[in-house]
Amino acid sequence: MHQESIIQQTVSFVQEELKHAEGGHDWFHIERVWRTSKYIAGKESVPTFAVELGALLHDIADSKFHGGDEEIGPMKAKEFLTRTGVDQAVIDEVIFIIRHISFKGGHNEGVEKTPALMVVQDADRLDALGAIGIARAFNFGGFKNRPLYDPAISPEMNLGKEEYKRATSPTINHFYEKLLKLKDLMNTATGRQMAIERHQFMELYLDQFYKEWEAR
Ligand code: ADP
Ligand code: NI
Repeated sequence: MHQESIIQQTVSFVQEELKHAEGGHDWFHIERVWRTSKYIAGKESVPTFAVELGALLHDIADSKFHGGDEEIGPMKAKEFLTRTGVDQAVIDEVIFIIRHISFKGGHNEGVEKTPALMVVQDADRLDALGAIGIARAFNFGGFKNRPLYDPAISPEMNLGKEEYKRATSPTINHFYEKLLKLKDLMNTATGRQMAIERHQFMELYLDQFYKEWEAR
C-alpha cells in the first residue's frame, strides 16, 4: 500500500485513540513530535517512513495511565499496523521505537539505537524543552496539584533522599531532575542544535522566575 495513505490512516487512528488524552500527551503533542521528527530526519538523511509512524504512534497508550502496563502501546500499534498492511520489517522498526523511546526504563540500557529511534527520541525530548516544555511541565504539575516552587524543597537544598521523596516535589524541581539534563542526551547533531536554544530559554526563564520570587 502507498506510504502516504498509510500515514493518513495512522493520523486518523491516533487522533481517535487520543481523543480523551490529557493536555501533555494530546494530539498536538504528537503532531509537534511528528513535524520535528520529519525535520530532523530530513537534515540527518534518515528515511522517513518508519520515523513518521514511530512519531505518530509513540504515545498511544502511556503506561502511566494504564496501571504501568508497558505492553498496551506496542500491542495496539502492532495490531493497527498489521491490519493496515504495513511490511513486517517496518512494523518491527516502529515497535522498537515505541518500546525504547522513554527517558526512564532500565531496559533501555545497552540497547543499540536505530537511526529512526534516535530521530523520534530527539523530537520527543525537544517537546519537553523550551517554551512548550515549560508549559507542559506546569500543566503536569497543575494536574497533580503540585506547588510551582518551594524554597524549602528546592533541588539545591540537598534534602535526604527519603525526606525529599516524601515532600510534594514542586514543578520547578522537575527542571533540574530532567529537563536541564536533556540537552546532553540528544542523539543527533540537528537535535542537539535545536536543544541548545530551548535549554538557554529555560535557563533565562528560571533566572527571571527567581528574580520575581525574591522581588529583585
Ligand atoms: P514523554 O513525552 O517522554 O512520555 P513524560 O510522560 O515523562 O514524557 O512527560 C510528559 C510531559 O510532562 C513532559 O513535558 C514532562 O516534562 C512533563 N512531566 C513529567 N513528569 C513531570 C513532573 N514530575 N513535573 C512536571 N512535569 C513533568
Ligand atoms: Ni511523547
